[in-house]
Amino acid sequence: MKVNSSNNFNIDKIRKDFPILSRKVNGKPLVYLDNGATSQTPTQVIDVIVDYYSNYNANIHRGVHTLSQEATDKYEEARHKIQKHFNAKHAHEIIMTSGTTESINLVAHGFGSLLTKGDEIIVSALEHHSNIVPWQMLCEKTGATLIVIPMNDAGELVMGEYNNLLSENTKLVFVNHISNALGTINPIEEIIEKAHQVGAAVLVDGAQACPHVKPDVQALDVDFYVASAHKMCGPTGVGMLYGKEAWLNKLPPYQGGGEMIADVTFEKTTYADLPHKFEAGTPNICGGIAFGAAIDYLNGIGFESIAAYEHELLEYATKKLLEIEGLKIYGTSKNKTSVISFNLEGIHPYDVGTILDKLGIAVRTGHHCAQPIMAYFKIPGTIRASFAFYNTKEEVDVLVEGVKKAKMMLT
Ligand code: ALA
Repeated sequence: MKVNSSNNFNIDKIRKDFPILSRKVNGKPLVYLDNGATSQTPTQVIDVIVDYYSNYNANIHRGVHTLSQEATDKYEEARHKIQKHFNAKHAHEIIMTSGTTESINLVAHGFGSLLTKGDEIIVSALEHHSNIVPWQMLCEKTGATLIVIPMNDAGELVMGEYNNLLSENTKLVFVNHISNALGTINPIEEIIEKAHQVGAAVLVDGAQACPHVKPDVQALDVDFYVASAHKMCGPTGVGMLYGKEAWLNKLPPYQGGGEMIADVTFEKTTYADLPHKFEAGTPNICGGIAFGAAIDYLNGIGFESIAAYEHELLEYATKKLLEIEGLKIYGTSKNKTSVISFNLEGIHPYDVGTILDKLGIAVRTGHHCAQPIMAYFKIPGTIRASFAFYNTKEEVDVLVEGVKKAKMMLT
């Protein structure tokens, strides 16, 4: 898809929204290509954070005083923004968490009382550790078995195998929407539909997808969808869990504490209604409000424009990098987002990353919390350049020159 130049996508204007993009690193202009790890924050979101601490910092759902009411209103307004963004049916189906990892652990904990020996949980070979380890822990606790959808050399899930793995024993399917290590966009519509045919619930990890696309949880008919604010131009330490109301009512609370109760005596506690049942303790109030502001910001630019622009960057960078002899890209699906994982023949990714940093270029190196993917390709890790809508083709050129320089220095 080409970017329509008549729409409101103005890269120069967008870049001005991000103060950090004008800083220098090691004396060179910063080229920030580690958006898969965390995105940068626009002034529009920073201002909301400053406003919160300058004007209405208070605990929520607790006080009759004005500051508490203002903070509560803004926090609940943010929940509604998140609901609208993901098209959840009810605001109480949005649980505020500390991020994707906590959202997944919350669901895994909840299923601890619903699974027994003989039940099967399916995950994919493309998962981040945060969508593997909690399910292994759940299997240890319940006696359920973890089964893996395999991948192919392009870094795509082998869907024929998935169909074979599904049975009446399948209780849960967990898959990421987009692979953090390779950028593959998984066919989640098909995964969800097939899982539902055998009566299994599906959790989709949207951490890497939500900066690029706008998921519609009702259209997907997904049971759980999770995401983090900090990948979406928001702050760290806040994220969300969408769950269908019926599932959230079925799952027990994740943590005990203040705010999640209806009534407490030393003999018995009854729990609050959704969403509070899952929100024990004082939340990241400012973070939640800023998450709402980040969603406003992204929608202001528009996800169609973002996806089209990033696709152009991906194609351009892929072509340019492949011109370097000895460079291999891992993750070559046609259906991928703006992530390029690569290695230079005979050179450790860490060494390349270190030289790139000296040139002001930020990339991630290593296994990207996805060791099974690295094991599949028999490599210790990769250099990962992950692009956002505020990156430019000029920055791709700087990356390409940097990789060439690193190759020269290391061979
Ligand atoms: N999950 C994040 C990444 O892929 C941290 O870098």
